[in-house]
Amino acid sequence: MKKNKVLVTGGAGFIGGNFVQYMLDKYSDYYIFNLDLLTYAGDITKHHSYKENENYHFIKADIADRETIMTIFEKEKFDYVVHFAAESHVDRSISDPGIFVKTNVLGTQVLLDASKEIGVSKFVHVSTDEVYGDLDFDPTTFFTEKTPLQPNSPYSASKASSDLLVRAYHETYGLPVNITRCSNNYGPYHFPEKLIPLTISRVINDQKVPVYGDGRNIRDWLHVIDHCAAIDLVMHEGVNGEVYNVGGHNERTNLEVVKTVIKTLGKSEELIEFVKDRLGHDKRYAIDPTKLENLGWKPKYNFETGIAQTIQWYLDNKEWWDQIISGEYQNYFEKQYSI
Ligand code: NAD
Ligand code: DAU
Repeated sequence: MKKNKVLVTGGAGFIGGNFVQYMLDKYSDYYIFNLDLLTYAGDITKHHSYKENENYHFIKADIADRETIMTIFEKEKFDYVVHFAAESHVDRSISDPGIFVKTNVLGTQVLLDASKEIGVSKFVHVSTDEVYGDLDFDPTTFFTEKTPLQPNSPYSASKASSDLLVRAYHETYGLPVNITRCSNNYGPYHFPEKLIPLTISRVINDQKVPVYGDGRNIRDWLHVIDHCAAIDLVMHEGVNGEVYNVGGHNERTNLEVVKTVIKTLGKSEELIEFVKDRLGHDKRYAIDPTKLENLGWKPKYNFETGIAQTIQWYLDNKEWWDQIISGEYQNYFEKQYSI
């Protein structure tokens, strides 16, 4: 039987990396192609155990490099594209927006053209709840798929732009697409510039944890494996052209998140340091996942079980994040924070 070819862009990053592993473990009848530029956020050492697996292939390439991408698509004739590759950190988008437009908007357009050219069966665009802007603190309000797009940061504006291009390729050319809009992920291999891995790694090392503003901003946290399961479901069962929100009703203030990590690791709350707020800091994100639940999705983790598993993973895999925080990351940290 012919095996389907699945192209995963950004498969060396946090979520894409977990998705590659999830797919290789779950399906023996798919070839998984991981296409990644290996920016500061990309790392393929996590896939070394798959080196001998004939279903796994790695391609180093830039999604915004039209000629190279067209050549790869013509050669491999992928059946599915699951598109994660992006610049993903809001703070970096505030200090350097240009690369966000190049990768997230132009890169997505190149992939759409290539997918149209070879006629893929499905293009899944992995987007974010940040395209909806933010909510106030009324706990009865949620983002639905019908919430208007009102992105506030250069990052979320670039993601919203790519969402609109994906939609347009479906409406204009009939490309079979889905867009997923997930809330904040956490879990293994999360790059330590983001709140949860930054907090875990710094608390383990008895270092101060920078909390922006008053720490009362709210995020809706989802374990990365539950996000991977959602994408798998949408890829196979999603109705063409539809958007699916992904989230598990795990709203926490940033301060609650940081205090949970500190308590679990048995450290002191004196490690918390309030620092200058993020520019344009979104107040609250919260997802209504009803549409995805109606498709059959149910998360495996709640915040308590997920954060416990994640903290244990960081304790067990110190060498992975140690090699990151001891490299170029130090310059980034000093520039971003002055603590
Ligand atoms: P990440 O920063 O950990 O990984 C991004 C990956 O993309 C890296 O491996 C990087 O090398 C690669 N990449 C960057 N530019 C590239 C280019 N030009 N060509 C090829 N590869 C390139 O990101 P993440 O947190 O895993 O997020 C993955 C996707 O999921 C993004 O599209 C993001 O917008 C979306 N998302 C993230 C979250 C979250 O909480 N992290 C939530 C919802 C949606
Ligand atoms: O909602 C989905 C989005 O979640 C994804 O699209 C993004 O790619 C992902 O990075 C994430 O964006 P956030 O900006 O919400 O995540 P971050 O971990 O950067 O910040 C989470 C919250 O913690 C936010 O309110 C800012 C705050 N924060 C963050 C950092 C890095 C701090 O207080 N201190 C920090 O040092």
